[in-house]
Amino acid sequence: MPSDAKVTTATLRARKGTGERIAVLTAYDVVFARLADEAGVDVVLVGDSLGMVVQGERSTLAVTLDEMIYHSRIVSRGVRRAHLVADMPFMSYQASIEDGMRAAGRLLKEGRAEAVKLEGGIEVAELVRRLVRAGIPVMGHVGMTPQSVHQLGGFKVQGRTDAQRAQILADAQAVTEAGAYAIVIEAVPQPVAAAITRSVSALTIGIGAGPDCDGQVMVMHDLLGLEPAWKPRFVRRYAEMGQAAGEAFAAYAADVRAGRFPAPQETYD
Ligand code: KIV
Repeated sequence: MPSDAKVTTATLRARKGTGERIAVLTAYDVVFARLADEAGVDVVLVGDSLGMVVQGERSTLAVTLDEMIYHSRIVSRGVRRAHLVADMPFMSYQASIEDGMRAAGRLLKEGRAEAVKLEGGIEVAELVRRLVRAGIPVMGHVGMTPQSVHQLGGFKVQGRTDAQRAQILADAQAVTEAGAYAIVIEAVPQPVAAAITRSVSALTIGIGAGPDCDGQVMVMHDLLGLEPAWKPRFVRRYAEMGQAAGEAFAAYAADVRAGRFPAPQETYD
């Protein structure tokens, strides 16, 4: 069982190269944040995946900075030991460095995050450098970057060509050199993620990137099976909560209709 000590960027960094892998999980509300924290998850990520798994959008693009701050603040109330990271949503940092600095500042001040995550490589390196200099830890995100879904032509595996592989490696190196303490690597073939993990001092956190990264991240809804019809190759389900919830709701509705709920012991005298 992991220790009770607070997880920080310093304690995480110390794990690079030790083989002690890092477990990262998304959360969007206080109940699941507390469960993840108490279960020993190292890093809770308030992902902009909330646009898809909570808000029902087809991509993450519609998520606003105010929504990220709202969810991050809620999640922070459930997190005691884990390190808390919040995603910078689409267009909160792409237009200018100043936009990015202010957005990140709000995620820490109002959202109570302890670090921010942003997508991209060479093109965001200067922003990463400025954020780190301002005392804001940054987690990068390379490979399949969902905020560029339209540019990429869909949520597709990246790094299958020599040119893509070279670009992803250069991106990971650029954000590392700019001071990022960790980098999410999403949807790339295993050898690509393994090569990046060997070549950068930042921690690599994989999703659909194979087992050689320094850690793994999963979207909570995928891990819990909350959307039974959604089962991509990179997901491992640790529970079937979608099915369990559906059965519980149906049993409740049947009991109400049949007059079985509430029973005398569930009723005030
Ligand atoms: O938004 C998110 O949840 C993410 C993870 C899948 C890495 O970016």
